[in-house]
Amino acid sequence: MKPTLTDLERLAREAGSILRNGYNTPHTVHFKGTIDLVTEADHASEAFLLGEIRAKFPGGHILAEESGNIQGSNADLWHIDPLDGTVNYAHHIPIFCVSIGFSTNGLLTLGVIYDPMRDELFAAEKGKGAFLNGKPIRVSETTELEKSLLVTGFPYDTWDTELDNFKYFERLAKKTQGVRRLGSAALDACYVAAGRFDGFWEFKLKPWDVAAGGLIALEAGAKVTTIDGREDFLSAPLSILASTPGIYEAVREQLRQGGDWAQASRSTSGEK
Ligand code: IPD
Ligand code: CA
Ligand code: CA
Repeated sequence: MKPTLTDLERLAREAGSILRNGYNTPHTVHFKGTIDLVTEADHASEAFLLGEIRAKFPGGHILAEESGNIQGSNADLWHIDPLDGTVNYAHHIPIFCVSIGFSTNGLLTLGVIYDPMRDELFAAEKGKGAFLNGKPIRVSETTELEKSLLVTGFPYDTWDTELDNFKYFERLAKKTQGVRRLGSAALDACYVAAGRFDGFWEFKLKPWDVAAGGLIALEAGAKVTTIDGREDFLSAPLSILASTPGIYEAVREQLRQGGDWAQASRSTSGEK
């Protein structure tokens, strides 16, 4: 059985309430890398989501951040980030969410992102628009880089790689009203969808970070590609540029002038 948008909304709200209930308690933090954390809430939210999906929508393939690849039919593919913004959560900063994307035969069809601290539910179904708590949302009308507010993020291997995001950050911070770093890629994309930010870029992400957010931004009228302009923003090497159309080319041009990220990424990962 295929899920509906309402099914994803229910799952995201219930997983979000697990995060909200645990927010004010002391957290148990484990380290997946030097600065890559996981808390008890990531695991509790993911266990809930996987249990529900297996019971109600069996047979699909699930890509979940903490459990990896759960084999199933690729015709139905779930992208699960049970807690996007883990470092914020671990530090009791109330900026995080649950992100659930669903693809059918390789095409993203449903995306839901729930911010439990603000009770904001972002949702989109392919071809049917994007919504925040049931009301349609739209990207901003901005056409000038100088008047734009952007958002980005930094990869967890920032300490150890020259392929970080700092030179792009500096370049765009000097051409715009500013560049924010909220710490939740999924919410970054939703805030572009809602017209709060004018653009979002980041690289070295994982599919569960951007599947739902990418669809929500697209459905709200954003142009969403990889940083090097590919429309399939879930294909490797994974990066995202989600922007209101009025400044998309200008942001891309700045990123291009900052260096060929895709090429550098391929050579550090050994690809051609
Ligand atoms: C992270 C957040 C962050 C982004 C990182 C992601 P997590 O996800 O989305 O904003 O900069 O690249 O990995 O680890 O909190 O689920
Ligand atoms: Ca994430
Ligand atoms: Ca996560």
